[in-house]
Amino acid sequence: MNRRVVHTRGGLPSEVLTVIEEPEPGEPGGGQVLIRTTAFTVHPGDLQAIEAYPGEAGQPVPAGVEATGVVEAIGPGTRVAPGVEVGGRVTVFPQPGAWSQWIVADAEVVVAVPDELSDEVAAQMLVNPLTTVMLRREAEEHLAFGYDGLLVQTAAGSSVGRLVTGVSQFHNVALVNVVRSDRGAAELHKRFPDVPVVATEDPGWADEVRKAAGGRPVSVAFDPIGGKLAETVLDLLTPGGKLVSYGQIAEEPISVHASTLLHKSLTLRGKNIGRWSTEASAERRASDVATAKQIALALKDQFDVAATYGLGELANAVEHAVRPGKVGLVLVRPW
Ligand SMILES: NC(=O)c1ccc[n+]([C@@H]2O[C@H](COP(=O)([O-])OP(=O)(O)OC[C@H]3O[C@@H](n4cnc5c(N)ncnc54)[C@H](OP(=O)(O)O)[C@@H]3O)[C@@H](O)[C@H]2O)c1
Repeated sequence: MNRRVVHTRGGLPSEVLTVIEEPEPGEPGGGQVLIRTTAFTVHPGDLQAIEAYPGEAGQPVPAGVEATGVVEAIGPGTRVAPGVEVGGRVTVFPQPGAWSQWIVADAEVVVAVPDELSDEVAAQMLVNPLTTVMLRREAEEHLAFGYDGLLVQTAAGSSVGRLVTGVSQFHNVALVNVVRSDRGAAELHKRFPDVPVVATEDPGWADEVRKAAGGRPVSVAFDPIGGKLAETVLDLLTPGGKLVSYGQIAEEPISVHASTLLHKSLTLRGKNIGRWSTEASAERRASDVATAKQIALALKDQFDVAATYGLGELANAVEHAVRPGKVGLVLVRPW
């Protein structure tokens, strides 16, 4: 039997997710790859999608988008990416229903895992590195990015935030990190002693960001929070600056008076990896996946795992995935 995580309605993931048993998949067809999963990641976005699911579903809705595993079989005549072979380790994204012991994936989304990467890193090798690539590309559209302009990012201690920091250091992009707690700031400072970090729990944190910027204009900001925090970040931007919103952690809306946008000529941009996967060309996706692998290889130490659970401990896993102060992503080993 195959054990798969599903939900049949929206709501708190710890309450609505269940593990069902279904027949094991048969041989893959043309264009498909059969994978026995070894680990999958619980992304905050997975949980938001489950919470926001409208009403009751007629059929169980399979959960998850990213998983790593071993290729069991490749469908006849299937073109696979370089390195994908029977017995080889792979990661899949976007794969609706990735939270399952067995996955039948479209060959297009199956990526070989370099030998140097552990299963723990492999399980996180696509979504967050690709998000980092997507954000960086968006920032590069600003003329000052990579020159005198400075980048500010909020939730900088997050898994994505640590990759953004590592990539910014590699490319010599000036960055000021923002986290919510002094504890988080101390933890991030230990990892990246050369990158200034400011905690929003300190009143006057915005002035601390200005001080850390040392007179350089804040041309781009990355923000997965929104709400009041994003409003302050808009204030920090230089005229012509851009706020790239890529998450919805705050419950309240971002409230901005038209005059702020008008007089400072600001740009507000939303980015999400779901759109990347449906809108980017096949060439762009292949190139970005290659970059994501490079990020995983170069920044292995930034792919922390907060904890690993079994399928029988799913409620604990999803509760841990949103626990304040955790560092890294929560993984589930499905066997
Ligand atoms: N747009 C996309 O395609 C895309 C792709 C990937 C991720 N994301 C988003 O990016 C964000 C980070 O993802 P991740 O996988 O890196 O998550 P993660 O490792 O679980 O980190 C979550 C981070 O959010 C911070 N946080 C949580 N609630 C907060 C609040 N109310 N105020 C301030 N900070 C708060 C946490 O800070 P503490 O350390 O203080 O707890 C932690 O640093 C999520 O919102 C996710 O949905 C978006």
